[in-house]
Amino acid sequence: MRLSHKFKKLFNLDAVYSTKAMLLRLSYPLPAQPFIDAIDKEGFEKIRARYYDAKEKVNPKKYLNLDSWMRTNVKRVRDHRIRKAPPRLRILDIGSGSGYFLHILKCLGHDVLGMDIDHEPVFRETFALLKIPRVIFRIEPFQPLPDLGQKFDIVTAHMTCFNRRADDTHWGREEWEYFLKDLQTHLNPGGKIQFDLNPLRDGRHMDPALRDWFKSIGAKIDRRKVYLDQVV
Ligand SMILES: C[S@@+](CC[C@H](N)C(=O)[O-])C[C@H]1O[C@@H](n2cnc3c(N)ncnc32)[C@H](O)[C@@H]1O
Repeated sequence: MRLSHKFKKLFNLDAVYSTKAMLLRLSYPLPAQPFIDAIDKEGFEKIRARYYDAKEKVNPKKYLNLDSWMRTNVKRVRDHRIRKAPPRLRILDIGSGSGYFLHILKCLGHDVLGMDIDHEPVFRETFALLKIPRVIFRIEPFQPLPDLGQKFDIVTAHMTCFNRRADDTHWGREEWEYFLKDLQTHLNPGGKIQFDLNPLRDGRHMDPALRDWFKSIGAKIDRRKVYLDQVV
């Protein structure tokens, strides 16, 4: 790597956000074990016995590696800096998958809601086991979210897939602009949007034009993560 590039990397804003996130995580220790212990062990083992395949790295069955995915989700909670209630926050997680992220937040005393399509029996069963409410809804480009009957303090999404087009390319500025404007109508004053994006085919998490647009509307970006206050 050329020295000038190294310096650019060292001083670019993303590196600053990244380092800040790491330091904040260090200041917020949160062990995963209590959240694993809070799950009905027998119920979980029944689901695992039906679906788990240790070799599976891609399929949703991989989420049945509970220790590993609970650690990942604890890290997300620390990254989002969501601490134990009070204040009791209302949190919507889009593409909520297994529900572990919301389970941790529920254990921390928050009100949580998942949103997902209903394709995966594993997710259906883990959500039922964790007793977390979930709205079944498919996000489509240029279509509003449904009336959820409540507003949220934080809306999250991790390893997003809803932003994939039919041809497997990812949403650009137009789709995101529509989506974020609509999403803001579901936020309480001061609400926040915190996403981490699944990679594009070439390994980047967003193309430079989208990244610049996110930044132009005030987003903070830490590699795959996009943090937005009510701004669009
Ligand atoms: C890669 S998984 C991530 C699951 C979870 N967020 C996590 O990180 O552990 C993507 C999630 O997005 C959901 N999803 C995919 N397309 C969607 C769409 N159009 N609308 C809503 N959810 C969608 C999937 O069902 C799945 O739960």
